Amino acid sequence: MFYLKKANTFQGVSFQELAQQFGTPLYLYDEQMIRAQCQTFLSNFVHPFVRSEVIYASKAFLTKAMATLIHQEGLSLDVVSGGELFTAVQGKFPVNRLYFHGNNKSRKELLEAIEAHVGTIIIDSEAEFLLLQSILPNNTNQRVMLRINPGIEAHTHEYIQTTKNDSKFGESIFADSTMSLISRISKDSRFDFVGLHSHIGSQIFEESSFYEHSRAVLRYVKAITVQTKVVVKEINLGGGFGVEYTSADQGIDLIEVLPKMLDTIYQAAMDLEIAIPKVLIEPGRAIVAQAGSTLYEVGSTKQTVEGKNYLMVDGSMADHIRTALYQAIYDAVLISDREISSSSVYTVAGKACESGDVLIRSIQLPQAQAGDYLLVKTTGAYHYSMASNYNRLTKPAVVFVNNGVCRVVVKKETYADLIRLDVDMEE
Ligand SMILES: Cc1ncc(COP(=O)(O)O)c(C=O)c1O
Repeated sequence: MFYLKKANTFQGVSFQELAQQFGTPLYLYDEQMIRAQCQTFLSNFVHPFVRSEVIYASKAFLTKAMATLIHQEGLSLDVVSGGELFTAVQGKFPVNRLYFHGNNKSRKELLEAIEAHVGTIIIDSEAEFLLLQSILPNNTNQRVMLRINPGIEAHTHEYIQTTKNDSKFGESIFADSTMSLISRISKDSRFDFVGLHSHIGSQIFEESSFYEHSRAVLRYVKAITVQTKVVVKEINLGGGFGVEYTSADQGIDLIEVLPKMLDTIYQAAMDLEIAIPKVLIEPGRAIVAQAGSTLYEVGSTKQTVEGKNYLMVDGSMADHIRTALYQAIYDAVLISDREISSSSVYTVAGKACESGDVLIRSIQLPQAQAGDYLLVKTTGAYHYSMASNYNRLTKPAVVFVNNGVCRVVVKKETYADLIRLDVDMEE
């Protein structure tokens, strides 16, 4: 438990200055840290005999500037909706390095992807294959992968576990129809079937899950090779690399795990006597979570008759939904210019009209007062991208800070933005 004097800084800029200049709540990103994480992935996901590619899963955090940054760092980009695709294109991301995911892409979204010349479309189901067949022009040769469900249960929150057998994502490797779907895709000349995609979940801490997953996908590649003679050139193993939100978490050691994943593939390919596919991964959270923090101003504190201490901040579940959604746990630091000698255990609550509007269920902090600031850490992933306007609260600005230099990448919303699309009732 500790607090920072207001004079303390976020990458060289004082919190007071940040709050005054950009308002609170405020999403702050350490730009150098995002870039360094990109390079950690690129430089460690390598193997002498296995080709590899790193794709950033933009659902974790996407803006036009972020798309540009990811391009500058040399990663590919995964999008899951027409909106993410549009943002990536507007951020001048090269379309041939885009991967278009999603379990229920609409006809309109698929047409947009085809028109934009998206590099790879990940087909999620037979229904989507039929839809694509009906809209792909005759002279195309669209690069596609098929999302499979290998039925592996990653040890993580059930809402972010994606390959249980009854998951809505992908086609099961235990269904015979999946094998025939692969044959059908590869026989249609408008499709360039390059391989399989599979993602077992998010915020995974057990490294064995990644190796088990790699081997399961390769066993299925072997089955495809034997049963259909279709060549699987590439496999995309998704994201899910767990990160530390508090000191109780032990994040995935990327430097150890990334090359080991590729070696697992290499060994499995040797054992199964199949050609070594190119291996792709799609981290989202592990690239941006720790680079981001949210700055709030403390509005008030309140003790209930039962003795619960609330610390109320000027944000809410509208800018921080993961606690309500996944019971996620966060660390925070109080920023004050007072000398504080006592502490309290607080529930950090927001200003939304919901009892569930809690950002941190329990945290020991120095005794707070109105006017102090609270910096909630590790909010870089799935915060801005999951933000809403509940209670007509305006979304915070997003600022990249790099060695003392601030770059606004998303402006703070105004009340006018809130009614921009409203249509007046005729009098
Ligand atoms: C298909 C796919 N790829 C990648 C990711 C990124 O996962 P993470 O942010 O845990 O790395 C997700 C997250 O849900 C996903 O669904």
